[in-house]
Amino acid sequence: MADTAVTALKTYADIPVLDWDLQNPEVSSYKLFGDLREKTPLVKVPMGMGSMVLGLRAAMVDDIVSPENTRQLETEMKMMQGIFDGPIFDFIAQVMLFANGDAHQRRRQPVARTFAFKLMEAMRPKAAAVAAEIITENLGKGSFNFLKDFAAQIPARIIADILGIPRSDLPVFMKWISDTAESIGFVDVARRAEIEQSLVEFNAYVDKLLADCRASPRGDFLSDYVAATAASGDMTEGEIRAQVVGLILAGSDTTRNSMCMTLSQLLQHPAQWADLCANPDGLKKKASEEGLRFEPVVSGIPRVTIRDLEIEGYVIPAGAVLMVSILSVLRDPAVYADPETFNIHRADQQRWHLAFGAGAHRCAGEALARVELEEILAAVARLAPNTRIVGAAPKLNPGAIRTVDQMQVEFIA
Ligand code: HEM
Repeated sequence: MADTAVTALKTYADIPVLDWDLQNPEVSSYKLFGDLREKTPLVKVPMGMGSMVLGLRAAMVDDIVSPENTRQLETEMKMMQGIFDGPIFDFIAQVMLFANGDAHQRRRQPVARTFAFKLMEAMRPKAAAVAAEIITENLGKGSFNFLKDFAAQIPARIIADILGIPRSDLPVFMKWISDTAESIGFVDVARRAEIEQSLVEFNAYVDKLLADCRASPRGDFLSDYVAATAASGDMTEGEIRAQVVGLILAGSDTTRNSMCMTLSQLLQHPAQWADLCANPDGLKKKASEEGLRFEPVVSGIPRVTIRDLEIEGYVIPAGAVLMVSILSVLRDPAVYADPETFNIHRADQQRWHLAFGAGAHRCAGEALARVELEEILAAVARLAPNTRIVGAAPKLNPGAIRTVDQMQVEFIA
């Protein structure tokens, strides 16, 4: 006889509430998610006046990012922080990351067409050369600030090169990046005026770069991008500029923090570091991919449900904030053997690495991020194999984009 028993679906109210403070750096999110993942696919995290639901398992990623089920958060991210207008609000309203449907397509296409894999691969020698320059300057000179004087320099100098920014403008360009990077994530309200002042200057600078490329195309990325936006003809001036500022900001904090955490893990696993030093070019990709898995710097992919969504036996109502927990999924034993172990030799690395997101908003700069991460690791392994961490190993502060607290290293000659 057929089994006629029907399992009742659980409701939003049945999703267990996580009563642990995720903002507390003393609490290991990995331990927490590891304990929970087996027991429940979803947890609710109190957030402001409401809650956010976290999806903990790899099997649910596609459902959570599908445009049939969810949409990206738009300016409500900023409104929740009390920002309703001004330069930060305008930037968020115009950038591809916080757009949906046609607006997202319109903004992403010219970037996707021109910020291409081939161009990024061509940046490998440049990334290796910038890294070699900084390593050589500091070799045998004692402890130095790896976070500020190395990891932050690489993405800024490389994107400046791609955009054709003269070296003399680098200091002010880097200041704008460091002042305005948090516009994308959670803005410290006390710093809002300062951030906005820098953003206005930054916007004016990018406007000038774009105008120069229009007046005399140089056959580089920015000239091609300007031509692509003109060909599509449906972007406003503000949108054209916001995608360029967005590329610069989205690629800064993410790449530098990832660089720190991957090198730190390698130095804490001397046998794997020795392997990389013995074969930098053969293992740089594996090392970088494992660093991205083991300590991802973007903690989740937040979305809003656009319909009642059934997921792993629960019904989540339309209008709920639902986030793929990248931290949890990248340690899901359903995908990774021995997930709590840092292992650059693992054979189960996924081709579409979740550290770069999933679906329509998948990272537009992943090829560049990989080039930078791989070349930096290879350069340190080749030129300074005796590198050591000075003081405490870096820790990631919690947040949407997790940032490193500090990192001092010594390149021993
Ligand atoms: C280790 C480095 C990086 C990591 C871990 C990373 C991660 C991510 C993730 C997870 C998303 C998707 C967010 C979402 O769907 O809500 C994203 C989007 C994006 N990233 Fe990255 N990223 C990195 C480096 C870069 C670089 C170097 C650039 C450009 C220079 C860049 C540009 C972008 C852009 C423009 C988007 C928005 C794409 C869209 O909305 O269609 N990222 N990134």
